[in-house]
Amino acid sequence: LFAHVEMAPGDPILGLTEQYLADPRPNKVNLGVGIYVDEAGRVPLLECVREVEQALARDPRPRGYLPIDGLPAYDRATQKLLFGADSPLLAAGRVATAQTIGGSGALRVGADLLRQILGPGAKVAISSPSWGNHHVVFRTAGFELLEYRYYDPASKGVDHAGLLEDLGRLQPGTVVLLHACCHNPTGVDLDATQWHQVVALLKERHLLPFVDIAYQGFDRGTERDALAIRLLGEAGVDAFVVANSYSKSFSLYGERVGALSFVGADREEAARLRSRIKATIRANYSSPAAHGALLVAGVLESDELRARWEGELGQMRGRIHAMRAALVDKLAARGAPQYGFFTRQAGMFSYSGLSRAQVERLREEYAIYALSTGRICVAALNEANIDYVAGAVAAVSKG
Ligand code: LMR
Repeated sequence: LFAHVEMAPGDPILGLTEQYLADPRPNKVNLGVGIYVDEAGRVPLLECVREVEQALARDPRPRGYLPIDGLPAYDRATQKLLFGADSPLLAAGRVATAQTIGGSGALRVGADLLRQILGPGAKVAISSPSWGNHHVVFRTAGFELLEYRYYDPASKGVDHAGLLEDLGRLQPGTVVLLHACCHNPTGVDLDATQWHQVVALLKERHLLPFVDIAYQGFDRGTERDALAIRLLGEAGVDAFVVANSYSKSFSLYGERVGALSFVGADREEAARLRSRIKATIRANYSSPAAHGALLVAGVLESDELRARWEGELGQMRGRIHAMRAALVDKLAARGAPQYGFFTRQAGMFSYSGLSRAQVERLREEYAIYALSTGRICVAALNEANIDYVAGAVAAVSKG
């Protein structure tokens, strides 16, 4: 029965980690996957998380099912973080939020539900380029995929004119997938003025914004990084969707903590949307897992732990900024001054401009793993590996 089943291609990001783990070379560096590691090269366990975890261990609880839409305290805290504690949308009951299996789970449940709502002609416009799994998730959910211009290789910035032109051509009702901050893979974000223009256009053209926010707090802080969501609310856009992830911001990758929020026109519409989100989750994985949600809610519900979390997040952010600046200096010192743009990019990723062949050389000759598109994860750099990486990148850039 299974004789004809073909091998699936390896995942371009997680498959690369498999190769990295199998590589016996001791000096290997994984700049492929988007994972923040600390100065010692480890995924950090945040102090605020450790504190909640210890409290949970002191008071063990029975493990019943969570509700289909997750832990209520987690959903409430998530709404405040995304939409703002004083959000009129929240006060009006217009937001339906459900805990999901990571940000990817939020994207998939959201895509499945939108496909049901929009019907067989459903279309989604995705930035060029984007995180590869965006295409996979929406295609698998039955969407027709479109692209809008985003990255301009010449300026190494946003092709804003191209972006507005492409969005302006979309049919009303098209889903527009937007990266709220720390664009993956380019690290190139819209500024506040550009966001205002994009939001106005989305509203005017009756497009359906779907905001993916997986790096809140990794550019300028949790409030500033949520600007796109806040502007959509302020502009009076009456329907939009948000998928968020705590993998990075809480360093809880393996706990799969994310959430999906649908914003409806009013309380009654939000209630109907919530029922549909729940039905979609039930048909998919029934209900989410409890532990990670207890950790996140435990931190966000305590003023003291929340402040500590913001501090720890700030440290991660600061270390990434410092690594970007150090990498630029070290590359320049090794005869590769063309990488100054790394410090203009935001978040974990840099679209380096390295070619596929240069990336291959990095892997084969130096055991440095990057994506074939040239995306590198600067959050994986530290004092111990940065000189080696700078030397290798400078070498492959010359030859
Ligand atoms: C990445 O882009 O590396 C991360 O979002 C991890 C993933 O799942 O691909």
